[in-house]
Amino acid sequence: MKMTIMLMVWAFLLTHGIAFAHGGEKHGTNHSDAQMDRFHKMMPMYAQVQAKINEALEKGDTSAVEAEAEKILATIPDLKKSKPHKNLKKIATFKKIADAFGADVTATAGMAKKGDLAGARTSFRKAEERCNECHAKFRD
Ligand code: HEC
Repeated sequence: MKMTIMLMVWAFLLTHGIAFAHGGEKHGTNHSDAQMDRFHKMMPMYAQVQAKINEALEKGDTSAVEAEAEKILATIPDLKKSKPHKNLKKIATFKKIADAFGADVTATAGMAKKGDLAGARTSFRKAEERCNECHAKFRD
């Protein structure tokens, strides 16, 4: 008898607990919908820019490298405000990687501006490693 009541209480808490948690989660996503939207548009843009930078590096077109790198740089403040779906509790690491990524892309643009093709290439390789590092930890 005692056991049955305990089970019923437990079942009640479980279903309502889930309902509460779900409500909270939905509320949270509503708040950051616009941010999430920008984050989801950012990534395919990054992939396009990555292809263009690599093409420009191949051709030795440093001004194109710089112009493309600037497109990523314009999004870095937004990237740092974004939240991944996966591993959200490690948001500090996410921000750290985003910072390092921003620094590598800044270096890429700076080298390209100086006409230092080898330097730009080295910096952009580092930036690409950040893409992979972040995806390994935070992409579903
Ligand atoms: C600070 C973290 C971080 C960095 C840096 C990062 N990404 Fe992402 N990327 C993510 C996350 C998280 C997702 C999964 C999106 C989600 O949670 O819905 C993602 C998804 C993607 C996707 C899939 C797009 C989609 O619509 O799902 C592509 C393509 C992509 N990233 C490309 C890149 C490229 C290229 C770079 C580097 C030039 C890069 N990303 C740098 C975190 C990052």
